[in-house]
Amino acid sequence: MNFEFTEEQLMVRDSIRKFAEAELLPLGPELDRTREFPWETVRKMGELGFMAPPVPEEYGGGGMDSISYLIIGMEVARCEASHATILGAHCSLAVLSILDFATEEQKKKYLPKMCSGEWLGAFSLTEPDAGSDASNLQTIAVKDGDYYTINGQKQWCTNGAEASVIVLFANTNPEAGLRGITPFIIEKEMEGFKAGHIEDTMGIRGSHQTDMHFENCRVHKDQILGGEANIGKGFKIAMTILDNGRVGMAGASIGIAQAALEAAVKYANQREQFGQKIAQFQAIQWMIADMATEIEAAKQLTYYASWLKGEGKKVTAEAAMAKMFASEVAGRVTDMALQIHGGYGYSKEYPLERLVRDARIKRIYEGTNEIQRLVISREILRMYR
Ligand code: CAA
Repeated sequence: MNFEFTEEQLMVRDSIRKFAEAELLPLGPELDRTREFPWETVRKMGELGFMAPPVPEEYGGGGMDSISYLIIGMEVARCEASHATILGAHCSLAVLSILDFATEEQKKKYLPKMCSGEWLGAFSLTEPDAGSDASNLQTIAVKDGDYYTINGQKQWCTNGAEASVIVLFANTNPEAGLRGITPFIIEKEMEGFKAGHIEDTMGIRGSHQTDMHFENCRVHKDQILGGEANIGKGFKIAMTILDNGRVGMAGASIGIAQAALEAAVKYANQREQFGQKIAQFQAIQWMIADMATEIEAAKQLTYYASWLKGEGKKVTAEAAMAKMFASEVAGRVTDMALQIHGGYGYSKEYPLERLVRDARIKRIYEGTNEIQRLVISREILRMYR
């Protein structure tokens, strides 16, 4: 076992940290207030190779290993959580769906512009009645010669309003239930497709979650992700992709927790009460010890899941464990860090109240933590059957 980063991973960490501290950190309060989509920095991330780190260079990606990608997500979230959400939906969910499941032709068509950040990606699975019960899709794609006509409504699609390329899951054979689900690649300009309203969310306000409307949207069969061989295989594809996404989600949770810990330590070393720095009080020291230990535990779980993924191994249980644990750590750590700040933590003058709000979604999206526990317990029960 070797717990050390490679030279390359250290270089990646230094360069993304430098970029994120200079370019992303200052944007946090403004994005939270204005909700403007941060196109400029997203495009810059694309130019620097941070929007598709694990994609091979032949398709325009960064050619990096899975740990380097995880580091990038963590460092981005440590400075500005909305960018980490935009990156996760784009890369872990949309770009990697195409890399892992598309035909060679589709890869050549979509990946280079998605890797450069020119085209943003989104992943559209969730519907009004298909949240945790992800296979209960009412969006239907009806075959008509070489075309499919898609009708239905999607929800909570991150990057949905901005994406040029959307990986969409629709049912081509409703009678077959989850075995009727088929993945499609939708382009923004396709007739019959429209992104709807942007949810007014509690946190990660620089990233947008939208409804997606399909009304007689006619797509050629060539738009089936991976071609006709994947008809009816969409549910397993979606689950495999979400396994990847959940590792990134854990990394982003750790980034937010790390930011909160650093802010709390800085504050505790400055703030004086009862004639001494509050860092001298045991009540504060214990909170700092708990925060640091929890973050370290979350990191180890997440690095392990990411390493397994890089080795091409199944990560269903490990990704769910990392996502569930790290998101709960982010909740506890941001709360403790706010507590250390006292009244100032509750004020918008400090970043803590925003970090608490940004962290909260991590226990919900890409599968609620109740679903993660279900996934983990199923895998464990299967192991000992
Ligand atoms: N990898 C590969 N295959 C998988 C799998 C995985 N991780 N999980 C399940 N499958 C397969 C099963 O093996 C099974 O296949 P067989 O019948 O051939 O064995 C098939 O899929 C059905 O599996 P289940 O019986 O377990 O399905 P289920 O309906 O009971 O439950 C679930 C599945 C775990 C609850 C699943 O629905 C789930 O994860 N729900 C949460 C969905 C989610 O994460 N949504 C977030 C969407 S992302 C988003 O919102 C976008 C955004 O922008 C943030």
